[in-house]
Amino acid sequence: MKVTVVGAGAVGATCADNIARSAVCQELVLLDIKEGLAEGKAQDMMQTAALLGFDTRISGSTNDYSKTAGSDVVVITSGLPRKPGMTREELIGTNAGIVKSVVDNALKHSPEAVIVVISNPMDTMTYLAAKQSGLPKNRVIGMGGILDSARFTYYLSEAMGVPASDLQGVVVGGHGDTTMIPLTRLATYQSTPVSNHLSAEKLAEVKAATMVGGATLTGLIGTSAWYAPGAAGAVLTASIVRNQKKIFPCSVYLEGEYGESDICMGVPVVVGENGWESIVDYRLNAEEAAEFAKSAAAVRAMNTVLDTL
Ligand SMILES: NC(=O)c1ccc[n+]([C@@H]2O[C@H](COP(=O)([O-])OP(=O)(O)OC[C@H]3O[C@@H](n4cnc5c(N)ncnc54)[C@H](O)[C@@H]3O)[C@@H](O)[C@H]2O)c1
Repeated sequence: MKVTVVGAGAVGATCADNIARSAVCQELVLLDIKEGLAEGKAQDMMQTAALLGFDTRISGSTNDYSKTAGSDVVVITSGLPRKPGMTREELIGTNAGIVKSVVDNALKHSPEAVIVVISNPMDTMTYLAAKQSGLPKNRVIGMGGILDSARFTYYLSEAMGVPASDLQGVVVGGHGDTTMIPLTRLATYQSTPVSNHLSAEKLAEVKAATMVGGATLTGLIGTSAWYAPGAAGAVLTASIVRNQKKIFPCSVYLEGEYGESDICMGVPVVVGENGWESIVDYRLNAEEAAEFAKSAAAVRAMNTVLDTL
C-alpha cells in the first residue's frame, strides 16, 4: 500500500511520522512546494527506521506528483495554518486555491485514491475537494472530528482525573471554534455516562474548553498545533489502508443524513478501504439536533465564500 502526504509542514510531517512508526503502509511519499523540505524531512524520518524498527520506505518530493503515482490514500495538509487570534475560516482565500490544485494533481497520478482533507477551514475544503474531484462521495473524507474528540477526552480526563484511554467522547458538527458539538450526553467512562462523575457545570466547562482547544494551543505555541492533528490523520489513514472499519467522526458529504444536504460536516462514519462506508445515526436529541442545524448554517455560509473566490 502507498500513502502520499501533501504538505511537509508541521501537521503533514507529524502525520507521516506516525504512519511510518505504526507500519501502516510499505511506501510513503511526502510532497511540498518548498524546495527540499519534503526530501529533507523524509530522509530525517528514514534515519529513525533503524532506531524505531519500521520498514516503511519514506521519500520526499518537491511538487513532483509523478512520485506519488498509484497512491491508495492522499492526505492533504498543504496550506496556511492559523496564527493567534485567527479563526480557521480566515484561511479560506489562500487554502482553497492550494487544495484545488493539489486535488487535481494528485488524482492525475492516483485516480483510485481516497482523499483525506486536513487543511482548514476543513469542512469547506472537504466540500471543495468533493466538488472539484468529482469522485464518489465516499472517497473524500475530512479530518477534524477525530482531533476534536481526542481533545474532548483529554479535557474530560483532566476534569475526572482518569486516563483518557478509559474515556470515549465524540465531537460532531463543523470543525470550528463555534461550530463543533462535543456530545457530552453520549460520553462514557468505562461504559458509565460521564454525567455520573461530573456535575452539569463541570461538563459545560469541558465542552467549552474543547471547542476552543485549538485556539488555546495556537495562543500558547504561536501557530496551529501538530502532534494531535498529525496523529489523528494517521489513525484515519490506518483505518482506510487496513480496512479496519473503525467508527470516527469525519466530515463527509451529506445527502439528508442528520437533516442536512449538499454540505460536508462531521458525523460518525465507518471507515474502511473504500473510504467512508456508512454513516452511523447517533439519534441526536432535540437540543443536539438544533445545535447541528446551527452548525450547518455556519458551514454553509462559509461554503458560499467559495463562489466569490
Ligand atoms: N483539520 C484539522 O484538524 C487541522 C488541525 C491542525 C491544522 N490543520 C490545518 O492544516 C494545515 C497545515 O498546518 P501546518 O501547521 O502543517 O502548516 P505548515 O505551515 O507547517 O505546513 C503547511 C505546508 O504546506 C506547504 N504548501 C503550501 N502550498 C502547497 C502546495 N500547493 N502544495 C504542496 N504543499 C504546499 C507549505 O510549504 C508548508 O510546508 C493548515 O491549513 C492548518 O490550519 C487542520
